[in-house]
Amino acid sequence: MPALSASAPGKVILFGEHAVVYGQPAIAVPVTHVQAKAIVTANPRGTAGSVHIQAPDIDLDCYLRDLAPENPLAKAINGVLTSLSIEHPPAFNLRVTSSIPLASGMGSGAAISVAVIRVVAAFLGRQLPDEQVSALTYEVEKIYHGTPSGIDNTVVTYAMPVYFIKGQPIQTFAVNRPFTIVIGNTGVRSPTSVAVGDVRKNWQADPASFEALFAQIGEIAQQARLAIEAGQIEALGPLMDENHKLLQALTVSSPELDQLVDAARQAGALGAKLSGGGRGGNMIALADAANAQAIVQALIDAGATGTITTAVGS
Ligand code: PMV
Repeated sequence: MPALSASAPGKVILFGEHAVVYGQPAIAVPVTHVQAKAIVTANPRGTAGSVHIQAPDIDLDCYLRDLAPENPLAKAINGVLTSLSIEHPPAFNLRVTSSIPLASGMGSGAAISVAVIRVVAAFLGRQLPDEQVSALTYEVEKIYHGTPSGIDNTVVTYAMPVYFIKGQPIQTFAVNRPFTIVIGNTGVRSPTSVAVGDVRKNWQADPASFEALFAQIGEIAQQARLAIEAGQIEALGPLMDENHKLLQALTVSSPELDQLVDAARQAGALGAKLSGGGRGGNMIALADAANAQAIVQALIDAGATGTITTAVGS
């Protein structure tokens, strides 16, 4: 049997992170320049149920049975086996690699889960519907996020722009005019669960103020969707700036993120904001074709450890 493989893209949240956990809409888009990839090869000489896993990016080389049930890879594989009612699959080797920066708000965990779930199901002769892939990935996301909204598993599974409201069916939307985003990495790894947990504590301490902030962020996401659908890209810049201010008020920005956001604006970005869980990880800047390179240089000069320039909707 030849090797089987599956890939899944990274993602960025354009608008609405954190507020999305509290029922507000958010917008996320796939970033196909970076991918997670999972490859399965059969091991005809292995005993049934034996699964050998290699994930060189995280120095992992072990058997499934040696991983704790709450290990994300174990949870993804076991999720597939349970949903297919297979206890002892034919022995196989699984290799996982990813070019998506880890713990940086680009959906690396979700992308790895989606790729693993799809390839393991394919090896077992099944193609799972996207809805099921997304639901299984959501279960794994709980390990990283605690109380995930579901936006990461959704955008990564469907690999298209999504307007996401927790608990509601996926909504996609038309990008009337493609636009360019420059993503800048602070190089600071920041687990989403910590930022999400801190926002929750702040909300519990002062529900009225935090709910007002969530509602303002939700309003921005709605306006951004209308602007994207209408091809009014210039309108997105000020909405990003406003969204960043509100994320600062939620306490999820950081000096490194603010520095990159300021540098991008000074280099001519139409708007900029942190993206994802915050406290570290990535920020995004809205560029036009003429100034994208200047923004990349400004981000690097301001300390970004990496940048990705991507076109949304092309
Ligand atoms: O995975 P990240 O860092 O892009 O963060 C996900 C976005 C949050 O809104 C902060 C959390 C969630 O579950 O939606």
